[in-house]
Amino acid sequence: MSNGLVHIIGAGPGDPELITLKGLARLRESDVVFHDETVHPDVLAHARPGAEIVRIEETITENPSLLDSLNKEIVARARAGRTVAVVQEGDPFIFGLGGEIARAVRRAGIPFDIVPGITSAIAAAAYAGIPLTYRGYSSTLGFATGHTDLNKKYTDIDWARVATGVSTLVFFMGLTNLPMIVENMIAHGRDPRTPAAVVSCGTSAEQETLCGTLAELAELAKKDALHVKVPAIIIIGDVVGLRDELNWFEK
Ligand SMILES: C[S@@+](CC[C@H](N)C(=O)[O-])C[C@H]1O[C@@H](n2cnc3c(N)ncnc32)[C@H](O)[C@@H]1O
Repeated sequence: MSNGLVHIIGAGPGDPELITLKGLARLRESDVVFHDETVHPDVLAHARPGAEIVRIEETITENPSLLDSLNKEIVARARAGRTVAVVQEGDPFIFGLGGEIARAVRRAGIPFDIVPGITSAIAAAAYAGIPLTYRGYSSTLGFATGHTDLNKKYTDIDWARVATGVSTLVFFMGLTNLPMIVENMIAHGRDPRTPAAVVSCGTSAEQETLCGTLAELAELAKKDALHVKVPAIIIIGDVVGLRDELNWFEK
């Protein structure tokens, strides 16, 4: 039997209408659909009738051996001649598993393609009315993670370069370490009065955005814990100030 193939598809975050036409087409053609547990059911409803649907538990990122098993399952289905979709939240190559899965599939000699998705940084910012770049406010943009270790306590960010080197910074997975992020940004030269925001559950009906200065953001988030929920992105930069005028979704 000849090998099948693997489509690694970005679904976008929250709002199920944010998946691309190409993503939907590849999903509909697939015999097996592996999906992040955060992918909206309305996206999965596009899978063809009878497709095998397999949920990828979020804890997989904390356990390399689980990722290895997932890769083996994907490869086994494709080797059996089936077309496999791996549907990831946001974009598969931005703090997702897309790179790891693509490497495993390639090493197994199975053809694959990648369908980009709208990353939550872009989508949640847009729905919050925060343009990540804007002439006169921000000419550079960076994506960072709030932790790079499995215990979610540590990050290998070079704060001295990042804190003042990029106009707009978006942190993924940063809520737990928000006080540490704020402290490092300010300690390494970022103006404490810089506008900053936490966008929770971006692009979904539950989306909420908390804004303040960089110096006050961690304290505000602690006080407003009911409304500051995961998943969330943190945006730091003067562009956050434009939200007063451009907020359109949360009204
Ligand atoms: C493992 S990363 C996956 C990122 C994903 N590949 C992407 O491109 O958006 C998970 C993080 O993405 C962010 N995230 C995902 N969905 C989100 C949403 N709807 N609103 C805000 N942040 C979101 C959060 O920072 C969350 O901790």
